[in-house]
Amino acid sequence: MRSTPKRIGVFAAVALVLRPTNAMVFGSSSPARLGKRSTAKQVVDKCGGPGAFAGRTAVVTGGASGIGLETCKALAHAGCRVIICSRDPSGYAARCEQEIKRGGAYAVPDAQLEHKRVELSELGTVRELAQELNALETIDFLVLNAGVMAIPQRELTSAGFEKQIGINHFAHHLLYRLLEPKLCAQPAGCRVVTLASAAHTFGSVDTADLHYSKRAYTPWGAYGQSKLANVLFAKAVADRNAANGVRSVSVHPGVIRTPLWKHVPGASWIGGALISAFIADKSIEQGAATTVYACLSPECGRDDHAGVYLSDCAIAVPNAHARDPALRAALWEATEQQLAAAGFSAAPK
Ligand SMILES: NC(=O)c1ccc[n+]([C@@H]2O[C@H](COP(=O)([O-])OP(=O)(O)OC[C@H]3O[C@@H](n4cnc5c(N)ncnc54)[C@H](OP(=O)(O)O)[C@@H]3O)[C@@H](O)[C@H]2O)c1
Repeated sequence: MRSTPKRIGVFAAVALVLRPTNAMVFGSSSPARLGKRSTAKQVVDKCGGPGAFAGRTAVVTGGASGIGLETCKALAHAGCRVIICSRDPSGYAARCEQEIKRGGAYAVPDAQLEHKRVELSELGTVRELAQELNALETIDFLVLNAGVMAIPQRELTSAGFEKQIGINHFAHHLLYRLLEPKLCAQPAGCRVVTLASAAHTFGSVDTADLHYSKRAYTPWGAYGQSKLANVLFAKAVADRNAANGVRSVSVHPGVIRTPLWKHVPGASWIGGALISAFIADKSIEQGAATTVYACLSPECGRDDHAGVYLSDCAIAVPNAHARDPALRAALWEATEQQLAAAGFSAAPK
């Protein structure tokens, strides 16, 4: 059991590291331009308005909660058919439909929603999901959003991967790779948007010990490693697809009080109030804005945005490790090797 001063110390550390990072953003947050205070709906309205993306298909992992659910709603508002991927579609579908079609600050009554299952800690379900998604006519937006944060003790996925990097990185890498031939062959390409975090600065990627078999496990260090992996992955995907229409970016959504914080000690009582008062800097509606911007904005389809890290609807600068080409290549290779060793080889590109 942690002492209260230690709990406050955790919050203070998170606040100190995350807040200055937001100041690194290039671009304005003035109301006239998209920025820190923009909501996902405002991004849609700025990028063509309701229905402007009719006929497009979006796939969102972790789409039944938090930022992911608001992302699904905004993309539906933009006219997309939205495939919501979650662990329990039969349990979550009614709540998602209610929130998107009838709830909140605005409603999308004619939203085209579908629900598919994936349990990212079981790679067999990732393969099953990929099979179903490969049968779709097109995937225009692939939003790799699902995540877990600060799991208190080291836990493993069914493949033996440490759970934070296993769910946040390995499972999404596999999903992308199983879809890659389809995405590359699509005449209109695809936007691949990976949810990273300013918390990528909390960890280091050690390709010789990604699963904390030798290093001491810490909840935030492992989360930081997984989010650093997300930034490196997004840039690697961009580099692989420089000659075709697949575009890939990573996103820091802001700091938003969602169920993601459930493992933070005390998050359900006083800690929750502290998160809201001192750490959270956005509402859920604002937290989904940069993801939606990454999907819909013309800028994010341009070559000069390939592989960038976005925050507050603008290009931001991740740390030096996240920009290291050697680390990027080493992580890609280690991920491919370890997935193959676990029996989940992706078809070569
Ligand atoms: N909130 C923040 O302050 C913040 C800051 C920076 C980055 N992010 C990133 O933003 C993304 C979305 O986070 P959020 O704040 O919206 O959190 P959230 O509300 O907890 O959403 C996370 C989603 O991931 C799903 N998920 C977790 N484990 C899964 C698994 N094993 N298989 C399939 N789905 C799984 C959850 O499903 P269940 O509901 O079934 O658990 C949930 O739908 C994450 O990648 C997170 O790292 C968030």
